[in-house]
Amino acid sequence: RSIKSLTTSPSAHILRRGYSSEAVPLRKVTVLGAAGGIGQPLSLLMKLNPLVSNLALYDIANTPGVAADISHINTRSEVVGYASDAELGKALEGADVVIIPAGVPRKPGMTRDDLFNINAGIVKGLCEAIAKYCPKALVNMISNPVNSTVPIAAEIFKKAGTYDPKRLFGVTTLDVVRAKTFYAGKAMVPVAEVNVPVVGGHAGITILPLFSQATPKANLSDEELTALTKRTQDGGTEVVEAKAGKGSATLSMAYAGAIFADACLKGLNGVPDVIECSFVQSTVTELPFFASKVRLGKNGVEEVLGLGPLSDYEKEGLEKLKPELLSSIEKGIKFATQ
Ligand code: NAD
Ligand code: LMR
Repeated sequence: RSIKSLTTSPSAHILRRGYSSEAVPLRKVTVLGAAGGIGQPLSLLMKLNPLVSNLALYDIANTPGVAADISHINTRSEVVGYASDAELGKALEGADVVIIPAGVPRKPGMTRDDLFNINAGIVKGLCEAIAKYCPKALVNMISNPVNSTVPIAAEIFKKAGTYDPKRLFGVTTLDVVRAKTFYAGKAMVPVAEVNVPVVGGHAGITILPLFSQATPKANLSDEELTALTKRTQDGGTEVVEAKAGKGSATLSMAYAGAIFADACLKGLNGVPDVIECSFVQSTVTELPFFASKVRLGKNGVEEVLGLGPLSDYEKEGLEKLKPELLSSIEKGIKFATQ
């Protein structure tokens, strides 16, 4: 049974901004894994986003409570909860953006790759449904290991004949969020002004923050830059250890996921110059998937931007990450093509 709650009158679905006569388009966002540690705060943040007109919340457990709760918030979107596999199609139909935080999180001592056995199957099933019910949606993959789940999704979409590399994104925004926070702290600059690209992938040394390109500029020593790089690469583990067996980053991830989904919606709506880092199909290096800055537009990826100038330390990091990232990509492809 779907849990439907109209929080706005149908006439309120087209939102007019300020004095502008330009209407904000109707946009449906579906969250798969909406009742989880990430799913709940992420769904809340998407409910607060005025670009969203329809919010579909899907999970295999606890969806009714989460959907009822969020639906009472007096913002634009209509919230509908979908609580079983039989309803997955309805949750996905008409979606412009599908966000996937479904899957198990790490416990202390585990790598993200240790999640592969469970999460690969979950992602495969969900992507088969996306191919069937909303093949044109922009897919924001959060489930780990992202370095493998994105290639899995690509192969599932290829099998279904729906693959469009412009529409598949591994969400690496949390790495950027962390790099900005840690850099601002060390460089003593206002965090809201900080920009730092993070490239590569989303696990350990495959996460490569490019602090040489960070703005505002600061004179940090090599030791400080090495420490910042390491802290960004180990940011996920820092949270996993602090949570001591109760999961991994959820709140900061929800924030990061909401930023990335908002960027996708802005791109779809034709806002110019929307740029975020993301793990996408790429020719920036010899690897088939790679995270770098991406320009978002009406069809998803408009342009995958290059790396820009790297310091010697970053060049070394780039070469070091390639074998691990390639093997995670190949593992995902092998799983999905078997
Ligand atoms: P969680 O266990 O709290 O929540 C996961 C949710 O997924 C649960 O509600 C569960 O019922 C649901 N789920 C499981 N199988 C499903 C299915 N087939 N369909 C729909 N829903 C299903 O975990 P969490 O802390 O929210 O983390 C979720 C995933 O996100 C993990 O794999 C974690 O490693 C990953 N993660 C990624 C990033 C990133 O930067 N990309 C950051 C943090 C966490
Ligand atoms: C993160 O970076 O916080 C996530 O990938 C979760 C994890 O397992 O570290």
